[in-house]
Amino acid sequence: MKITRYKYPTPVSIAFLSDLHNSSFERVIAETRKLRPDIIAVTGDVISGHKVSADGKPLVSSQENVLPFLRGCTDIAPTFFSFGNHEWMLSDVDVRLIKSTGVKILDNEYIDFLGISIGGLSSALRTKYRTLDIHDRYPESDVRRSLVLNRNSFVPDTQWLDEFSKQPCFKLLLSHHPEYYSTYIADKNIDLVLSGHCHGGQIRLFGRGLFAPGQGILPKITKGVYDKMIVSAGLSNTAQPIPRLFNPTEIVYISK
Ligand SMILES: [Fe+2]
Repeated sequence: MKITRYKYPTPVSIAFLSDLHNSSFERVIAETRKLRPDIIAVTGDVISGHKVSADGKPLVSSQENVLPFLRGCTDIAPTFFSFGNHEWMLSDVDVRLIKSTGVKILDNEYIDFLGISIGGLSSALRTKYRTLDIHDRYPESDVRRSLVLNRNSFVPDTQWLDEFSKQPCFKLLLSHHPEYYSTYIADKNIDLVLSGHCHGGQIRLFGRGLFAPGQGILPKITKGVYDKMIVSAGLSNTAQPIPRLFNPTEIVYISK
């Protein structure tokens, strides 16, 4: 794991953590604490996998690292969270448990904090799932199969971004999917966008990644700075079945 530092004209220092995927978190928390950030931004995919828990327990408590990781974050600094694609199926109970850690969830909304505006653009897969009124009529497995098969046709809820981008202060947007940037975000007056999801391109050779979910083979966006967007290579070792090679996990730290 490495600490990647970026200089950016942000009024607050930001520890940026993405894509934990229920992997071990103790070192992440220890290293993040040393950075003494003003805030922590978690851009989704703390969950691993697309399955609901088999025993009926809330998903976030059946994945043992998720809530302790988030508690570790809020013990360091105010923590803001936006939903990734792996959080699409979280129940209201799951959401309450996440909130109980002290994390502020930003689900297609923004808030003002420390003189800046912080927004969270949810994965379209979660937004779509939340609009469906089918949970009582179809087996969960059928709903899941249909959603996952059609996920690339869903669009994020971006209506609120117009109001967000008019806020008269520094605007920070947490947006799990970097592939949303060019279509939905680049033309908005937003100062800094944080994204994850790509895992650095899984295998890195000659300075570029070879595969990213949502972009496929030889993706254009994998990690680093793209216009006003910073993309993290994430905190987890693999996105099955593609191995992660020559591509360390990272904590991103952004400050003036
Ligand atoms: Fe993702």
